[in-house]
Amino acid sequence: MAASFFTLIIFLLASPPVYGWRPWPPSSTTNTSHYPFSDSKKYEGSSDFVKLRYHMGPVLTSNITIHIIWYGTWNPTQKKIIRDFVNSLSDTSVPHPSISGWWRTVQLYTDQTGANISKSVVLGEEKNDRLYSHGKSLTRLSLQGVIKSAITASTRPLPINPRSGLYLLLTADDVYVQDFCTSVCGFHYFTFPSLVGYTLPYAWVGNSGKLCPGYCAYPFAMPAYVGPAERKAMKSPNGDVGVDGMISVIAHEMAEVATNPLANAWYAGEDPTFPVEIADLCEGIYGTGGGGSYTGQLLDARDGATYNMNGIRRRFLVQWVWSHVLSYCTGPNALDH
Ligand SMILES: *[C@@H]1O[C@H](CO)[C@@H](O)[C@H](O)[C@H]1NC(C)=O
Ligand SMILES: *[C@@H]1O[C@H](CO)[C@@H](O)[C@H](O)[C@H]1NC(C)=O
Ligand SMILES: *[C@@H]1O[C@H](CO)[C@@H](O)[C@H](O)[C@H]1NC(C)=O
Repeated sequence: MAASFFTLIIFLLASPPVYGWRPWPPSSTTNTSHYPFSDSKKYEGSSDFVKLRYHMGPVLTSNITIHIIWYGTWNPTQKKIIRDFVNSLSDTSVPHPSISGWWRTVQLYTDQTGANISKSVVLGEEKNDRLYSHGKSLTRLSLQGVIKSAITASTRPLPINPRSGLYLLLTADDVYVQDFCTSVCGFHYFTFPSLVGYTLPYAWVGNSGKLCPGYCAYPFAMPAYVGPAERKAMKSPNGDVGVDGMISVIAHEMAEVATNPLANAWYAGEDPTFPVEIADLCEGIYGTGGGGSYTGQLLDARDGATYNMNGIRRRFLVQWVWSHVLSYCTGPNALDH
């Protein structure tokens, strides 16, 4: 008993990086050969080869509360953009194509009892970690330390909500996190009781604005390796390349936490340490015709900014997610379905 518990802990601590968001387009350092699509098959991700399966674990069927931990220095405008995005997830009064329309695809997923993922996503209490409590270079395990500090703080600790809380840890643009910029822009997992005291689903997303915008804030910044012809970045909808780039990564991770919070619910792939989840399947696809190196059909704002969905007070560019009902990637701005 003790041995198997200990083995489990060692397994968890030794687990390779999983559930990471890999940027688009794939860089020379990203090995995409395990992906279910070759470039030529990436037309909106439609494929007979995708075997997304439900592995019987829980999904987030209760009203979801997002608890943001702002790690490091964040200005009020940046916070407002991200809060507006989170608040847009459940706001059905926003004109089509809307962020809440995007979340409807996530709601199609169910648990063993047939209960759908919650339609209601609200912003809960937030915590500032202005003084970089765990330094400016974080490991995957020290991210859990940051969460622990936030739920055990002596003043205004975040509530402990393992059933319907989603802890969103956002690191400022001067913070490096293990594997950031080389293989991930964000990831999701759950906290270990041995470290944090509870099993809490969480996601981390970094602001890549200074460290690697061409990697994590594409297409609002271009990777260094693209040629001069393709070098022109798109104008970001809220005037902050790092934060506008984070929005799609936050959306990606939230869709995956909701459908696979404990890594035993909805995912494709044979390798349980490298599951391919509902947003992984649609990376780089933002509109009709997307796939390969094409983002798909997007919208132009009057000021020349590029976006694909409306939110509260502002616009966002958010990648699509896989619909297991349609068997392809979709979003509210789809022209053909
Ligand atoms: C990429 O991964 C595949 C298997 O997933 C492996 O066979 C191949 O050698 C890898 N390529 C590189 C360049 O690491
Ligand atoms: C719940 O999921 C089922 C199965 O995917 C789907 O048919 C139904 O429309 C979903 N309900 C809502 C409210 O999204
Ligand atoms: C869930 O949220 C809805 C509004 O979106 C609200 O009407 C309902 O009372 C909430 N349920 C619980 C259990 O809090």
